[in-house]
Amino acid sequence: MGSHNPSATNPSSSTSAPPSPAAAAAASSWPLDSLPDASSPQLILTHPTPAERTHTWKMTYPMWGGALTEHDYLAREAYLTTVPLARDGGITHWILTVADAAPDRRPILSSCESLRKRAVVCRGGGDGDGKVKEGVAHGIASVFTEPRFRGRGYASRMMREVGERLRGWQAGGGGNGDGRSLFSVLYSDIGKTFYARHGWAAFESSHVAFKPVEGLAEGQVARVIGYHELAELCAVDERLLRANLARRGPGKTHVALVPELDTLLWHLMREDYMTKSIFGRTPIVRGAVAGEPGKRVWAVWMRGYYGGLKKKEGNTLHILRVVVEDPEQPDEKLVDGFRSIVQVAQHEAAEWKTQDVQMWNPTPKIKGLVEKCGIEFEFVTRDKDSIASLRWYGEEPTAELDWVANEKYAWC
Ligand SMILES: CC(C)(COP(=O)(O)OP(=O)(O)OC[C@H]1O[C@@H](n2cnc3c(N)ncnc32)[C@H](O)[C@@H]1OP(=O)(O)O)[C@@H](O)C(=O)NCCC(=O)NCCS
Repeated sequence: MGSHNPSATNPSSSTSAPPSPAAAAAASSWPLDSLPDASSPQLILTHPTPAERTHTWKMTYPMWGGALTEHDYLAREAYLTTVPLARDGGITHWILTVADAAPDRRPILSSCESLRKRAVVCRGGGDGDGKVKEGVAHGIASVFTEPRFRGRGYASRMMREVGERLRGWQAGGGGNGDGRSLFSVLYSDIGKTFYARHGWAAFESSHVAFKPVEGLAEGQVARVIGYHELAELCAVDERLLRANLARRGPGKTHVALVPELDTLLWHLMREDYMTKSIFGRTPIVRGAVAGEPGKRVWAVWMRGYYGGLKKKEGNTLHILRVVVEDPEQPDEKLVDGFRSIVQVAQHEAAEWKTQDVQMWNPTPKIKGLVEKCGIEFEFVTRDKDSIASLRWYGEEPTAELDWVANEKYAWC
């Protein structure tokens, strides 16, 4: 299988078409009793037209757009098709619809999107060759069925089809070989059962939460990170992550999404859009770093908003990624810098009206620093929201997978 040509087969890659009232009306006016059963061969997985795509965004606005006006939400979704990770076919919009109905006149029975991402795999020791190989993974987001079409099996049918389609989607020849993607991930907000039923197994979904703190004490040892520093940090992070995968033991297949610049920029540009819309300005502080090159600790973060100014609940400062450049250093050498990084994050969280700071799935090393740094924290195991879920396209059973760096940067 070759790589996907977006302009030929994905009409959703255009951002300029206005919403068509006809598409919206046609999609909503199908009588329920005329719709095919979820198992019908009449149903197909395909791509929305620009007008259909706008229709799905209008439908999802009440669910996910609370921090923005509807106008800004629609504009944000369009903007997010143009950022580095998404443009040139990086994002694909999917709909489940009726095969023989005309585009813009057909019902959109369920919808979602996928984002292509770089990923690495290492089949450590044992039968594996211990080499780190590169491949394609997909992040799935915005799974949605219009309220009146719910409970009829349409999202289940779409997930079955999307899961299979992504196996060979834009995969090139890497990773699993034979033009197969390595894996797809999604973050379930509806618990662990629904997606597991369709092939995405739930992985560790915990976080450390810190409270926002007004004001920042003088004499912080951490330095703030701006946009311009991210390229260097991402390059170091990727090198360290690859070495980490290669060092891991036999008997497991170790996988990770690459925490590369475009992946972080997707979050930061989304954050810029949101903060500009909500506050009229964008943040400067994108993270904090402590220590000298070779011995640094850093965290990169983004502010996510669902409540906006009306409701702090739903607004979170998310640590996208934490890196300890030299994990051989004893905690005592790292803890002052780590504490200062968390304090900068807490201060930013208060300044930007979020209810907490979240650090997802900390490694044992980071957990040790959290415990030693003396800042009050809560350890949360999630069982309903943002359940990190992965579907593996290789031969090994999913239970043999070790998902490394299962942190917020991988979310979409
Ligand atoms: C979740 C959603 C996509 C399901 O669409 P659907 O077409 O009705 O799904 P299906 O008919 O294939 O399956 C229904 C199953 O969804 C699951 N489900 C739906 N909402 C759920 C929720 N809030 N919590 C847990 N499970 C849920 C149930 O397992 C349900 O099974 P049941 O009928 O035995 O109760 C739809 O309810 C929706 O759009 N919700 C709002 C957006 C959302 O939450 N999306 C998921 C983001 S991860």
